[in-house]
Amino acid sequence: MSTSVRLVVFIALAALAVWWFALRAEPETTGAALVDIVVPDLPQSIRQGESLFNANCASCHGANAAGRDGLAPPLVHKFYEPNHHGDAAFQLAVQNGVRAHHWQFGNMPPVENITPDEVAQVTAYIRVLQRANGIQ
Ligand code: HEC
Repeated sequence: MSTSVRLVVFIALAALAVWWFALRAEPETTGAALVDIVVPDLPQSIRQGESLFNANCASCHGANAAGRDGLAPPLVHKFYEPNHHGDAAFQLAVQNGVRAHHWQFGNMPPVENITPDEVAQVTAYIRVLQRANGIQ
């Protein structure tokens, strides 16, 4: 083998090793719930909000807003109590997306095809879950 071929092989192997270690360093993403949620009996008026949440938010925020490992935080969490993230914060998050600031999950993209009235229903549903879990 000529020196230059050897050099190319060496660089390729080194790059492969760096790539492999970088991949291995990725945190594991399981999608598992991040907090234990007490699920209350939902009043009829909240059921629509629950369906809208399941259709638009649960893929990231998880069933019962318990969060998903590696994807998105629980919304049943002290950070999101009404005094810290009022209902307007929910509207803004859905409309504009969220730049990651509390967590390491990355940004939340804006959610398309959901009206402000529907977001209000989702928020009311989350508030019921929050209260059932001592967050108010
Ligand atoms: C593609 C994944 C994804 C989807 C879908 C998603 N979110 Fe999020 N959301 C995130 C992530 C990630 C964060 C955390 C950002 C951070 O680090 O603060 C977040 C944060 C939030 C916050 C906190 C906003 C703030 O000001 O800190 C609210 C409220 C929220 N989401 C509501 C919703 C609602 C309601 C829906 C459904 C209509 C929804 N999200 C759908 C990923 C998602």
